[in-house]
Amino acid sequence: MIHDSRWDPTVTRLRGAKRVVALTGAGISAESGVPTFRGPEGLWKNFRPEDLATPEAFARDPQLVWEWYIWRRGRIAPCAPNPAHHALVTLEQRIPDFTLITQNVDGLHRRARSRNVLHLHGTIWEVRCTGCGRVEENRDPDLAFPPLCPACGKLRRPNVVWFGEALDPTILSRAEEALQKCEILLVVGTSAVVQPAASMALWAKKAGAYVVEINLEPTPLSRAVDMSFQGKAGEILPRML
Ligand code: OAD
Repeated sequence: MIHDSRWDPTVTRLRGAKRVVALTGAGISAESGVPTFRGPEGLWKNFRPEDLATPEAFARDPQLVWEWYIWRRGRIAPCAPNPAHHALVTLEQRIPDFTLITQNVDGLHRRARSRNVLHLHGTIWEVRCTGCGRVEENRDPDLAFPPLCPACGKLRRPNVVWFGEALDPTILSRAEEALQKCEILLVVGTSAVVQPAASMALWAKKAGAYVVEINLEPTPLSRAVDMSFQGKAGEILPRML
């Protein structure tokens, strides 16, 4: 393998680092077969977020929204973690203080056995009651409509964050804290257009972190980060480690 000196600063820093954060988006699961949102094959090419991923859409037509989430669960269920997910598990084992912040709802980081994972946008494998707020794991592939809460009888929804909704403040503040104190931030497979995740690299950089991006293509972040690697996360991350 040809030695590429662009890797050296990242590799050296990772070797000595005590506090590392990885921020991931849909691109890290692409090699597992999970569809991304943007780009030629992305979900938002064929579906409109305002019809399927907003509280207004759910209020208007909860059955349609549920059908879309059940369809997505069916797409994700057979997918397994790929070498990029596994590389982040290895990194967590080496770094004393490691936090994984993900925008993904697919659950693949947990399946790979990452431990300290903050799910910024929730998870597709949980349901939440719109009445009493009770959250439960649910992997039923043919969830019958309407899914009603066993405690209060109200309609349950996927436990994900939709456009126009606030993130869980506890998760957000844990993410902010990790970003404030990390020495290195790896930003992997995100188009960096959905807030607040899109700004997290800049928060970390401002606080002094060395920020490394891994993506198939340039993003709005690429010029602002310290190092931008273009390629597949499933190839670059294992090599970097
Ligand atoms: P996107 O679909 O917007 O972006 C995926 C990114 O991954 C793109 O920049 C691709 O270039 C890159 N990519 C694709 N395959 C890759 C690979 N094998 N290796 C490395 N990079 C690869 O997904 P997100 O940025 O995660 O939110 O989208 C953010 C949010 O927008 C999602 O969480 C979702 C969506 O609407 C909600 O639903 C609230």
